[in-house]
Amino acid sequence: MVKIACIGAGYVGGPTMAMIALKCPEIEVVVLDINEDRIAAWNSDSLPIYEPGLDEVVQEARGRNLFFSTDVTKHVSEADIIFVSVNTPTKTSGIGAGKAADLSYWESAARMIAQCCKGPAFKIVVEKSTVPVKTAEAISKVLRTNGDSSVHFEILSNPEFLAEGTAVSDLTAPDRVLIGGKEDADGQRAVKALADVYAHWVPRAQILTTNLWSAELAKLTANAMLAQRISSVNSISALCEETGADVSEVARSIGMDSRIGSKFLNASVGFGGSCFQKDILNLVYICETQGLQKVADYWRMVIDINDYQKQRYVERVIGGMFNTVSNKKIAVLGFAFKKDTGDTRETPAIDVCRGLIADGAKLFVYDPKVEAQHVHYELSAAKFSWDHPKAPYASASRLSSVSVVKDPYEACDGAHAICVLTEWDEFKQLDFPRLYASMTKPAFIFDGRNILDHAALREMGFVVYALGKPLDPFLRKD
Ligand code: UDX
Ligand code: UDX
Ligand code: ADP
Repeated sequence: MVKIACIGAGYVGGPTMAMIALKCPEIEVVVLDINEDRIAAWNSDSLPIYEPGLDEVVQEARGRNLFFSTDVTKHVSEADIIFVSVNTPTKTSGIGAGKAADLSYWESAARMIAQCCKGPAFKIVVEKSTVPVKTAEAISKVLRTNGDSSVHFEILSNPEFLAEGTAVSDLTAPDRVLIGGKEDADGQRAVKALADVYAHWVPRAQILTTNLWSAELAKLTANAMLAQRISSVNSISALCEETGADVSEVARSIGMDSRIGSKFLNASVGFGGSCFQKDILNLVYICETQGLQKVADYWRMVIDINDYQKQRYVERVIGGMFNTVSNKKIAVLGFAFKKDTGDTRETPAIDVCRGLIADGAKLFVYDPKVEAQHVHYELSAAKFSWDHPKAPYASASRLSSVSVVKDPYEACDGAHAICVLTEWDEFKQLDFPRLYASMTKPAFIFDGRNILDHAALREMGFVVYALGKPLDPFLRKD
């Protein structure tokens, strides 16, 4: 019987291990974390992350062959395959601050693995978190120089491609599983062992094997290319507003070119999430350290356009409302970085809310899955501190200009404007005539996700701004 341990019970480690346990009943899977609250939550009826379909998967496998524990050393020492899925935040100080990955969590996990594994044994260590190219080489050195010499450590890179909000379906039917390993006999033995795990439910043709460096770089490149599509269409949204073109029509027509494809072309207030910006910054940093400044500049622009898009949205809101939002109540609908998740890491809502607060707005935030303390934490935290261990959310300073409410109608009552920042389906079903009646006039809606029926809203009397659409005459400066 194979035993798997996973260090890190977060958004990646938790769902991925739950799926492996579900599909491989004869394999014992233990998910480990130093954070006791997180493990307690995984063992309870209220899981620490919201992900459609995850409760059912965990319920079926937990206690059978899926376990959550804080006893890291015991389970790591017993495991044949050790996944490492710890945080790899952006460095906040020192060389590469604001760009390079901080590998201290990875390194301490590697040192712990080295210390607790005793031989003779063949142990497979799997890189699951996003880490910069050539991390495997560094980790392998830590393991070799600190470990029992009769333990053979083989490192694999097995990047995770799941997206939050669709984790369960992404894991059930992945486009591909990528496994990078060394090309010698031991490397190939390890690759085969991991491929055999996934082959329980993923067709062999979709399990790709590459060398270590290709697998690591493929993860960064996939995220950079996806983010680039969003920044490309967002840059065109600005041009559409100036010319009278409609970005949805443009996206639809280019998406029908099979070489381009239709996905990931929704104009938005900007992309967020724990991966895109971090991975691109990583790519930029790696390029710079290799002396490839032009390549670094090329990818950096993807982030610049994303920042520009958030800023542009804030300027539309303030500009549209007669150049001031000072002391005006603004309802913020949606704070998560996308729908179907409660995750707020790097959400575009942070920069938008900060921009509005800076101009004196009173914000009333409603999000179906985000707790008040997370909103306050994100708005008061320093840039890049989000993925570092944080003080308890409760200690986040509460901003007097931000209220978090549990009801969208309360958020909008008496407001001058509604800002839609996340594409939650429930926002489309709101009773807009009721909202209109309760708002201060002129009542503005700034749809940062283009999910509402703009013609119907205009009919009701709202002044509507939609990203990348011909501007409402009321909002025109000329
Ligand atoms: C292009 C568009 O494809 C076509 O839809 C439009 O109507 C006119 O412009 P064309 O310029 O004839 O057509 O050729 P295309 O196949 O797009 O290639 C353009 C250039 O990109 C070529 O130099 C080609 O070698 C290069 N290319 C293409 C690559 O370097 N890599 C690729 O993966 C694809
Ligand atoms: C991403 C990758 O999709 C996934 O493969 C990788 O493993 C981790 O990073 P995730 O961050 O969970 O996943 O979400 P994703 O669906 O990619 O969305 C990222 C951001 O882009 C969100 O803020 C989303 O709202 C935004 N987005 C997405 C757009 O603005 N427009 C689009 O067309 C698509
Ligand atoms: P991701 O989105 O990549 O899954 P998360 O931050 O959600 O990232 O999860 C990473 C988890 O790894 C956190 O719960 C953190 O407590 C845990 N972690 C970090 N370092 C260690 C370690 N040395 N041992 C065990 N768990 C760790």
